[in-house]
Amino acid sequence: MEKILDLISREVVKAFQENGYDEKYGRVTFSNRPDLCEYQCNGAMAAAKEYKCAPFMISDKIAESLKENTMFESVESVKPGFLNLKLNPEYLAEYLRKMAQDQERLGCDRCDNPKTIMIDYGGPNVAKPLHVGHLRSAIIGESVKRIGKFMGHTMIGDVHLGDWGLQMGLIITELKERKPELVYFDESYTGEYPQEAPFTIGELEEIYPAASGKSKEDERYKEAAMQATFELQHGRKGYQALLNHILEVSVSDLKRNYENLKVSFELWKGESDAQPYIPDMVEKMKKDGYAHISEGALVVDVKEETDTKEIPPCMILKSDGASLYNTTDLATIVWRMKDYHPDEIIYVVDKRQELYFTQVFRCARKTGLVEPQTELKFLGFGTMNGKDGKPFKTREGGVMRLEYLVSNINEEMYKKIADNHTVEEEEGRKTAEVVALSAIKYGDLSNQASKDYIFDVDRFTSFEGNTGPYILYTIVRIKSILKKYQAKKSLPEGAKILAAHSDSEKSLMLELCKFNGMMENAFQETAPHKVCAYIYDLANSFNHFYHETKIMAEQDEMVQAGYICLLELTRQALELCIDVLGFEAPERM
Ligand code: ARG
Repeated sequence: MEKILDLISREVVKAFQENGYDEKYGRVTFSNRPDLCEYQCNGAMAAAKEYKCAPFMISDKIAESLKENTMFESVESVKPGFLNLKLNPEYLAEYLRKMAQDQERLGCDRCDNPKTIMIDYGGPNVAKPLHVGHLRSAIIGESVKRIGKFMGHTMIGDVHLGDWGLQMGLIITELKERKPELVYFDESYTGEYPQEAPFTIGELEEIYPAASGKSKEDERYKEAAMQATFELQHGRKGYQALLNHILEVSVSDLKRNYENLKVSFELWKGESDAQPYIPDMVEKMKKDGYAHISEGALVVDVKEETDTKEIPPCMILKSDGASLYNTTDLATIVWRMKDYHPDEIIYVVDKRQELYFTQVFRCARKTGLVEPQTELKFLGFGTMNGKDGKPFKTREGGVMRLEYLVSNINEEMYKKIADNHTVEEEEGRKTAEVVALSAIKYGDLSNQASKDYIFDVDRFTSFEGNTGPYILYTIVRIKSILKKYQAKKSLPEGAKILAAHSDSEKSLMLELCKFNGMMENAFQETAPHKVCAYIYDLANSFNHFYHETKIMAEQDEMVQAGYICLLELTRQALELCIDVLGFEAPERM
């Protein structure tokens, strides 16, 4: 379905052309003075310069031309030369009726050229528990992926596990200290290794911090860990079997955690999957003359003439021949291109890694790992801070574990729900989980991703204001009215959305018709916060309408049925939006 702004612009453009002015001046926007008008066109102001006359003269002529146009209720020319437009309520109702017919997409067309887009998000590190720093990547990435899917693109999410660093050597070293008798450490062992991992996830999570602590104090311990990492990376069998155990145990725990967040990945690849591609990639970079030795290390220069700040070379191999985080990311691009041939790869990573990704992207382009038209996009996010403005911590000052944070909010939410009305414990707990997830996700997504934000539990869990629970509360309210109506009667023959009967009803309708344009824009700008802003406005205008309108007591059967159709459309728009944001609404709350 065509976007409402395009439809209106087309009429205004025609009027400009009819009066001998260039079409470029006819573009219409949403009004920034909703008290005065619904849409506006400021083109006469700019046109006045080209046609050397008073802007008001132009806007007057345009208003005159549009006077008879049935699309509008009013077209006003106001000094010094603005056009203020109001839509004909019948035209608006017809637009919404068309939206309502398209139950699945509400008039938002799939894109014309579907792309294959890989999205690298999550980025958890194996054997280390998920902490809040990983929360943002998961929440934002999942939403960007869902928005892309909704627009008709093939979206492939890859978790890109951190499974290749020193942390692996640390775990192996600590395990060796504790259980030296395990066959994995016996170099002469040639049999099959046991199926069962020699540790649980609980142990694993305790082993890593213990090992990491020791390595900071004990130089010899650290060297042992580095040696173990080296041997693992160079194919020592027993260690590779351990790596597989660590992966299994860790990944099934991660999956459970992500599932609770309604986050899922198409691919569970990790840094280790890129390793086989490194030797050929490095060879080629050398052969093509891109990589050269600098201070013993192998590097590719990536600075460009237009740089205003220093962009250091991209390091490919350290002087001892070891690969780095860079090398892995580049080799990951190699297999992604080979296996999936994406048109675009989006990285949802902490914005402090921006310079790093600039280097990686430039290096990939320069050395021909990607095609010139392949887009590499960095979607950097800011830090989630506590109320003190510092990175979110536990009360004791430690790193906040994700599970801990989530269960805190669940508890908080349960208290609120149980305070509000009596519920069965089990149902209450379930509802609390659903609402808590909306609090966390909406609290995050409603901010522009690149900005730092304050994770304020009290504010995020509130049922009022710009919060997830407020949005859910609105949806639940609509569902309950719909249920009440359905319990009494069914929609009469010919029921449909009617031209607005009041200002508040028209405002709601004007919000609804923005749906397709908003979604398209949220995709183009990889900006889930635009979806949040839309549903907040939509929920507000619905609640305003609800307070001013007696829906259930309406005497005129067709008017009442029209309200019900409008409510149904509002519910669908809200639910589609929260679905792309990655949460859902309960039946009651
Ligand atoms: N594991 C990394 C971290 O915890 C994030 C990975 C980001 N993605 C990437 N392709 N480098 O910081």
